[in-house]
Amino acid sequence: MALDIYAEEMISHYEHPHNKGKLEKPDIMLHENNPVCGDEMTVYCRIENGILKEVSFDGEGCAISVGTASMLTDFAKGKSLEEIERMDFNTIKELIGIDPGPARVKCATLALKTLKGCAFLYQHKDIDIATKEL
Ligand code: FES
Repeated sequence: MALDIYAEEMISHYEHPHNKGKLEKPDIMLHENNPVCGDEMTVYCRIENGILKEVSFDGEGCAISVGTASMLTDFAKGKSLEEIERMDFNTIKELIGIDPGPARVKCATLALKTLKGCAFLYQHKDIDIATKEL
């Protein structure tokens, strides 16, 4: 019964995703894909003083990847970059309320992988400049 509720919420987020679409003038954006199925996701972030102020995602994916992206972007908004970097698969399982199983791990973590990539790149955005000066 509880599983049905979580599944229904996932479907609801898939059919009516929150934070879907391109964010104008993001501070950082990153595109990732799931090489197994070819699904694509781009995450856009606006960051102020180390806090994720606005976040959105775009792309095509299955119900789990889109539903999770919708829930994750709601959850991550207002969090610090350090908090985002500490998020892992357990964060996703707690958020969606179900264990998607080994076959769907990449679907459930595509948004998190992309969001964490944004946080990492933003925090290390000076690396290229520093390297060029060497
Ligand atoms: Fe492609 Fe889930 S089947 S991300």
